[in-house]
Amino acid sequence: LLKKTIARVSKSCVLYPLHWYNRSALCNACRMTVTLKLTRPDDLHLHLRDGAMLKAVLPSSAAHFARALIMPNLVPPVVTAAQASSYRDRILSALPDDQPFEPLMTLYLTEDTDPNDLSAAFQSGLIRAVKLYPAGATTNSASGVSNFERVRPVLERMADIGCPLCVHGEVTDDAVDIFDREAVFIDRVLDPLRRATPELRVVMEHITTAQGVDYVRANASGLAATITTHHLFLNRNHMLVGGIKPHYYCLPVAKREEHRLALRKAATSGDDRFFLGTDSAPHLDHHKESACGCAGCFTALNTMPLLAHVFQEEAALDKLEAFTSLNGAKFYKLPVNQDTLTLEKSQTPVRFAKTVVSEEGDVTVFDPGVEISWQVQNHVL
Ligand code: DOR
Ligand code: ZN
Repeated sequence: LLKKTIARVSKSCVLYPLHWYNRSALCNACRMTVTLKLTRPDDLHLHLRDGAMLKAVLPSSAAHFARALIMPNLVPPVVTAAQASSYRDRILSALPDDQPFEPLMTLYLTEDTDPNDLSAAFQSGLIRAVKLYPAGATTNSASGVSNFERVRPVLERMADIGCPLCVHGEVTDDAVDIFDREAVFIDRVLDPLRRATPELRVVMEHITTAQGVDYVRANASGLAATITTHHLFLNRNHMLVGGIKPHYYCLPVAKREEHRLALRKAATSGDDRFFLGTDSAPHLDHHKESACGCAGCFTALNTMPLLAHVFQEEAALDKLEAFTSLNGAKFYKLPVNQDTLTLEKSQTPVRFAKTVVSEEGDVTVFDPGVEISWQVQNHVL
């Protein structure tokens, strides 16, 4: 039957690679709805915030993802095991009834982080990683690290116990152009740090440059990178040409087109050092649409359909599962999820909700500005 069906399928069909993908419905040269069944994905970089915002945005992530690595840049930040534990409880109690979702907690690294507290939190399974924000690099990073020498003992302890360091990789030097801050960080901070502590397992978060991709590729085990959904769609023109688009402003800021293409290549390559971390970062609309708008794109609600669109454009739908559901679990030494998620391609464009409403105001859902015809099956948000 399979042979017969394949024979009927046109080789010019953009979904051609899918026809060998055993858990996908076969398309009949694009005349039929196509479904793509994936191991349930994980989001390995997510901002859920707290209070009313947490309540408003958590259902979007929990509906599609089995687990997410939760960023600790609350106000005040999550710096101790006790704070991580109570934040975890708040997330679990904000979950819709019966929704299985596992928040993977992180600690926010400061120059005063207690290595014993960190180590106990990691070894008990309470936290899965520690987040390094250079002080001043992004939203709520004021308590981050200014003097990297001061965190060396903590990093050495993390290397000993196998606790990954998630790095926001941008320098904060005023003299460095914002579009160069990631590349300069790699040379000035990340590479020396990794040479000084070679056993430390590192995730370069939300890479935005070809230099970031190349740095991961040039290094062997123990180094990986997350890539966001929005950086696969955006270059800096999308944000700035024809009027400034505050909902496309995020950090690290979107770069030139050549960098977006390098990210697409890396994400769709199947290379297990690249995996999904959406960096979905909700802000109230009036905080983004302002004279000094804050950084962040809220992508949790439509990330999986958007990624299917990108992977289809790159003729790499057969690599989507590795990016969203396998590579990250492997790096974090987590079991692969047992559950599945089915994506469906329809004949007409899908309309996603434009906003998520919180008790404090609206949050605009990321709109890539192109028609998307994928959606999560049986799921209207
Ligand atoms: O765009 C971003 N938003 N980048 C970050 O690094 C932080 C995040 C946030 O917390 O809003
Ligand atoms: Zn982030």
